[in-house]
Amino acid sequence: MKLKLTILDIPNPTDRKEQKITGGLMAERLEFGNISSEKAMELEETYGAHNYHPLPVVIAKGDGPFVWDPEGNKYYDFLSAYSAINQGHCHLKIIDALINQAEILTLTSRAFFNNKLGEYEKFITEYFGFEMVLPMNTGVEGVETAMKLARRWGYVKKGIEDNKAKIIFCENNFHGRTLGAISASTDHDCRRQFGPFLPGVIKIPYNNTEALERVLQEQGDEVCAFIVEPIQGEAGVFVPDEGYIKNCYDICKKYNVLFIADEVQTGIGRTGRLLACDYEDVKPDVLILGKAISSGVLPVSAVLSSREILLTIKPGEHGSTFGGFPLACVVATAALKVIKDEKLTENAERLGKIFRAALEAIDSPLIEIVRGKGLLNAIVIKPKDGIDAWKICLKLKEKGILAKPTHEHIIRFAPPLVITEDQLRDALARIKTVFDEIL
Ligand SMILES: Cc1ncc(COP(=O)(O)O)c(C=O)c1O
Repeated sequence: MKLKLTILDIPNPTDRKEQKITGGLMAERLEFGNISSEKAMELEETYGAHNYHPLPVVIAKGDGPFVWDPEGNKYYDFLSAYSAINQGHCHLKIIDALINQAEILTLTSRAFFNNKLGEYEKFITEYFGFEMVLPMNTGVEGVETAMKLARRWGYVKKGIEDNKAKIIFCENNFHGRTLGAISASTDHDCRRQFGPFLPGVIKIPYNNTEALERVLQEQGDEVCAFIVEPIQGEAGVFVPDEGYIKNCYDICKKYNVLFIADEVQTGIGRTGRLLACDYEDVKPDVLILGKAISSGVLPVSAVLSSREILLTIKPGEHGSTFGGFPLACVVATAALKVIKDEKLTENAERLGKIFRAALEAIDSPLIEIVRGKGLLNAIVIKPKDGIDAWKICLKLKEKGILAKPTHEHIIRFAPPLVITEDQLRDALARIKTVFDEIL
């Protein structure tokens, strides 16, 4: 196949500013990549560790809800980098903030103050209604931070005997890939031959308040925290029963245990509320956010809590070279403003209802159930005649929709929240065609 390849032509910052003012930047953006899909996949296969199994598509450019491969084929991005790109790919206001700040100052480390961190900390704490924030980078660092914070609080405030603190997690959770996070996991593939694991971890069934109460009745004196996803994303968008989060919160209060919500995937508008916990009016003692804080532009995560809890960690006891770096602060502020300015949470709620209703209306023996909230949705597939979730995703790709199976038989659909109703309906028509034609 002969490919028309274009060389990367990135405008210099001054040109970018002028183009932005004249509205020309979008038009000037690179149309196609400078290597073929085939070559890009071959390079990754040869030189990169094989710790992922990507769908065979190469993304060379993104804009709003769309991505393009190097050959110029256009797709709807229905994964949004696992819900990181809520504000859409390369949102102009966020990229503008990135470029402007990158020209001035990027990283200082926390050895010194910087002129962006304090402003950002004020902004993000007010935005989510917490007293303080501890800034980190990736989602799993947020989780690790919360685990350390919970243990520290347990010793200092609750009076748990040293080295005895326990944290409760739910089965089928996903909190990331560090040893701490996989110690909490029940996924065999995540854990196999990576042991030994962290002690002091208790696992209970998800969506089961009796199990939580039972463990706390027996061991509550040594438990410092319960860490939970308000909707289990990686498990296949598993939505718990109504009231589950509120009941868990109340049980935690009864036993003086921190209720910690991991909203790395569900947070920031994705589920049709700013936080998924908002559906049950629960304000977690500790909130973990990541991914869409920066619209996926930079790795930015945050642990939000009260002064009483966060100030149990003292100078020198926890940190990260990059956590709270000026570039991240500016990008995250811009990205969070976009969520409110463009009413993306409201869009997620409204379009989510349309999306689920349309999926439920598809008459296919392959669809077992449709579930989700806002624009975090999934179809559970009942494989038939050799057609499974992976094959369906390959067909979706042919029709211009990128989605990825999770746990073999589930397909998650999580488009950027900037998607319009017309675009969503167009995508739905393509999804329906796949189910109509595949068997
Ligand atoms: C709920 C949850 N917590 C934590 C993480 C880990 O985030 P990261 O991959 O940025 O470390 C993820 C990633 O998908 C997640 O869904």
